[in-house]
Amino acid sequence: MIALSVRLDALERDTSLREPERLHERSDALDWLDSCLAHGLATAAGDDLLRQRAEVLVAELQAVDDALSAQIRQAIRRGEGEQILRHWLTPARSRHDADDCSDRYDHLDHLLCEVLAIRESGEPIVPVDEGMVFYQPTPARHIVDALDRLALDARDVLIDLGSGLGHVPLLAAIWSPARCIGIEWQQAYVDAARQCAQELALTQAEFAQGDVRHADLSAGTVFYLYTPFNGDMLREMLARLQAEARRRPIRLCTLGPCTAQVAGESWLLSDGASRKGRPAIFHSR
Ligand SMILES: C[S@@+](CC[C@H](N)C(=O)[O-])C[C@H]1O[C@@H](n2cnc3c(N)ncnc32)[C@H](O)[C@@H]1O
Repeated sequence: MIALSVRLDALERDTSLREPERLHERSDALDWLDSCLAHGLATAAGDDLLRQRAEVLVAELQAVDDALSAQIRQAIRRGEGEQILRHWLTPARSRHDADDCSDRYDHLDHLLCEVLAIRESGEPIVPVDEGMVFYQPTPARHIVDALDRLALDARDVLIDLGSGLGHVPLLAAIWSPARCIGIEWQQAYVDAARQCAQELALTQAEFAQGDVRHADLSAGTVFYLYTPFNGDMLREMLARLQAEARRRPIRLCTLGPCTAQVAGESWLLSDGASRKGRPAIFHSR
């Protein structure tokens, strides 16, 4: 209890935590306070005062994050989102250094979630077919890495195959002038992503519900796959993408286990810049 009190004292005194720039440190403090409140302070006897102090500090720090995300949301609505997100989501701010190729999440993901403020519609999640992978968002630092390297321009059409709650097309629509499309099997995710695009005035971002195996891919110049499926389904989709590549040059950006299979496709050439665990980019030959 004494150690806890000492750390709480130190956090209360550290006024720098209220500076928006101290995102990382604030996130660490909030994680620690949340876990104290959940595990220790809420149950131990005689710690009412400590608990109240922790709750006040959580509210104060959360208010700083709320104000920051409100400011970023306003900038996005004004069409100035790229500059502000480049500042806040720069990989240099990530808890994981540039060589960390894991799929762990950090405070950049927390900030992105607050900025997008995606609310699920409450519609049920329907069972998935064999081979379909359940929803897991691409970590924010990997999206930023992919978007920087893809350098999408106004002629590009990005299609996220299995877009989940839409983080990739939404961020790409903020970050670039490209048209950004998400195709997703779960209607509830599509509704939530559409609502977010509408609230942030992201007219370039579109979402469609459906099985990507039967979707119209003819507009796409860049296809993003965060291992949405595996086995036969992945083989089938790669054959469809190869057929698209006979009509026009396309690029694929992949993350996760599907990358190894994509890398074995003879009609694709790697951009050579990828490290294991980071997004990989391939061009059709
Ligand atoms: C690993 S998540 C990736 C989500 C998103 N692309 C991202 O990176 O944040 C895979 C998503 O693909 C969707 N999915 C899987 N198979 C699909 C299919 N055949 N058609 C459409 N969506 C599919 C799942 O519902 C899930 O939301």
